[in-house]
Amino acid sequence: PRPILLTRHGESKDNVRGRIGGDTDLSDNGELYAKKLANFVEKRLKTERAASIWTSTLQRTILTASPIGGFPKIQWRALDEIYAGVCDGMTYEEIKKNMPEEYEARKKDKLRYRYPRGESYLDVIQRLEPVIIELERQRAPVVVISHQAVLRALYAYFADRPLKEIPHLEMPLHTIIEIQMGVTGVQEKRYKLMD
Ligand code: F6P
Repeated sequence: PRPILLTRHGESKDNVRGRIGGDTDLSDNGELYAKKLANFVEKRLKTERAASIWTSTLQRTILTASPIGGFPKIQWRALDEIYAGVCDGMTYEEIKKNMPEEYEARKKDKLRYRYPRGESYLDVIQRLEPVIIELERQRAPVVVISHQAVLRALYAYFADRPLKEIPHLEMPLHTIIEIQMGVTGVQEKRYKLMD
């Protein structure tokens, strides 16, 4: 059975500053992860000629994929991070201080909460449908390099986790989640390549 490898991009400069959204490049740590990931993928998928690498259209995933050699790379806008609308580029602290009602509303119902002029988790889940259909159709392995909220939703789909858990699933940086779909169900392995 073919594996699907899910990973967040390497640490970005906005991750270091605690800012959500944006389109920054990688920190030094993030660049190191990109190299380690390339090593891992090239070894793991050495014999898999038809494998492909899917990223979002944001710099941090494209840069994370860039050291990986030997496989085609495809960009999907549907793999872009949840869009925080007017809160894009803010820290959680700034949202709490400047827009306390928004902060509280999100805390109360993170799944349904939609950022003003932005998206909710439900919006993200809906826009992922074509990606999921295409992933299901693939016969060869796929490496998906995306973002925290998007990967929570994708992971929940394959691991059969309930909708209400999605916004709260743990999705750490610098970790690969390998999903294998076999006849007996779904198997999962995690590889933490660095802190
Ligand atoms: O902080 C990184 C990030 O990918 C942000 O860009 C995004 O808004 C956030 O994570 C999503 O996680 P949560 O839904 O827990 O805020």
